[in-house]
This record gives sequence, structure tokens and C-alpha cells, in this order.
Amino acid sequence: MVQVIPFLYQIFSGIEQLSEPDAELLAQARKVTSDAYAPYSQFQVSAVARLQNGQILSGTNQENASYPVSICAERVLLSAVAALYPGVAVTTMAISFHNLRGKSEHPITPCGICRQSIVEHQHHHKQPIRLLLSGQTGEVYLIDDAATLLPLGFTADDMR
Ligand code: THU
Repeated sequence: MVQVIPFLYQIFSGIEQLSEPDAELLAQARKVTSDAYAPYSQFQVSAVARLQNGQILSGTNQENASYPVSICAERVLLSAVAALYPGVAVTTMAISFHNLRGKSEHPITPCGICRQSIVEHQHHHKQPIRLLLSGQTGEVYLIDDAATLLPLGFTADDMR
């Protein structure tokens, strides 16, 4: 038997095609890339969340001279959400970046570790996170359920 897992995402030609709340979140993500601490990679990443309670929180990547100690923007954000608003779900997360050494005009997707962290948050709060992905300019990807980025992912369900 062969099983196919579909992966659906929408592509918008630019931020102006988005709904107002989504455009607002992405605009903030583009802006706060400058808060990143990325002296080693010069690759500034931001993640901005809209929470179920309406709050908006942002995170940026935080690097370290001992490179593996660095934390991605998405996990800085999820930790901030858990610390400041425990029990409150993220509904939408916008991710952007500014590559100080190159181009920033295409969307990037979360790394593997961040995908696992995002899925844990979804699983904990029993609701999907929408992802808005875009660089400083150009196309925007919209993924309605971040878990689709991690097909057959390992979750607490597997430990029952
Ligand atoms: N990075 C993120 O913060 N999020 C991603 O989704 C991809 C990569 C960071 C890690 C590192 O500080 C820099 O970008 C280059 O990999």
C-alpha cells in the first residue's frame, strides 16, 4: 500500500494581498528582524504571534559564540508566550528574516527543531497554528496548519 500525505499552502504575490490582520502581523515580523542578535550568521530572523487572547508577541533569533547554544526566533517566541501568557494558544505566527549578507525576498520555513516545537504547542493547545512566511519583500506563503510541515511527526499521542 502506498499512502500520500498532501501538503497544501497558499501563495500570495505580496503583503497587499493579505487580510488586514495578517498584513499587520507580517509587517511587524519584517520590522522586528532588526531586534535579532545574529552577529555570527548575519541572518536575522523574526517570529511574531497573534494569540487567542488578541495579544501580539515577537521573538528573534539569539545566537551565541558557542554556536549550538543559539536559539531560533520561533522557539524564543514560543518560550515567551509560555512565560508571559501560560495556557494561551498561538493562532497565527508570521516569520520573516533579513539576510545582511544576501537576499531577503523569498519566504523561509521553520527548521526541523522549530517544526517539532510548533507541533508540540499545537498539540498542547489542541488547535492549529497558521503560518505566514515571507522575506522583507515578495511572495507570502500561508500554511493553515503548521503540523502539515512535519508529516508523521512524533507527539505525546505516541507515548500513550
Ligand atoms: N534561524 C531561525 O531563527 N529560524 C529559522 O527558521 C531558521 C534559522 C536562525 C538560526 C541562526 O541563528 C540563523 O537563523 C542562521 O541559521
